[in-house]
Amino acid sequence: VGLHGVIPAAGIGSRMGGSTPKQYLNLNGETLLEHSLRALLAVPGMQSVTVALHQADRFAGSLALLSDDRVNTVIGGAERADSVLAALHAVPGGAGDWVLVHDAARPCLQQADVLRLVEHAVSRGEGGILAERVCDTVKLADSSGHVEKTLDRSRLWRAQTPQMFRLGELTQALEAVIARNLPVTDEASAMECMGYAVNLVPGSASNLKVTLPDDLDLAAWYLSRAEG
Ligand code: C5P
Repeated sequence: VGLHGVIPAAGIGSRMGGSTPKQYLNLNGETLLEHSLRALLAVPGMQSVTVALHQADRFAGSLALLSDDRVNTVIGGAERADSVLAALHAVPGGAGDWVLVHDAARPCLQQADVLRLVEHAVSRGEGGILAERVCDTVKLADSSGHVEKTLDRSRLWRAQTPQMFRLGELTQALEAVIARNLPVTDEASAMECMGYAVNLVPGSASNLKVTLPDDLDLAAWYLSRAEG
């Protein structure tokens, strides 16, 4: 069974501010996208990685890693799910192959974590995601800004990426949720909507998603710690 990667990198990074989308910000000498792509390409058996880029992208052309034989690029869409679906349609694999979808904005992915996910999914024959247990107390708000209820922390996890599913099943699930206009912010939620089991595989806090400016400093620290 084949193993492929998909990287949605078509966002505009509006919450980060600035004119450079966050996937192209520099982190310890390379862009976030290069760090994320390098981590996927390093997974043993990785046959291809398809990167979704914004239609007006002006940064990807200067990244040498995107010319790797195993890397393809496609034009993404308005929402993350549209970008992932566009990339899935271009993956050079069969419906039963596995695909790992990983955010361009998670540059500190460690091999030990991806390998734990791959091993878990392959041994169970079920998809899964890297995730970390929530250590804060989490409140559900009503529309007036009051607490509606406090969620049971012992059952809460923060979803990370990579998220690993069968290429055919994930493609169908995303097509279905997009057709029904359901808001999905990760691949697992599309799979959940279609009734598939999604395994939670413990990851590391260092696999953070760079969203706000402070996240970049933390990511730089995690990367230099991993390299040191
Ligand atoms: O916006 P958010 O932080 O959730 O984005 C996660 C990832 O999805 C980023 O790597 C971003 O570039 C990508 N994305 C995309 N297409 C969009 C929106 C986000 O590929 N339309």
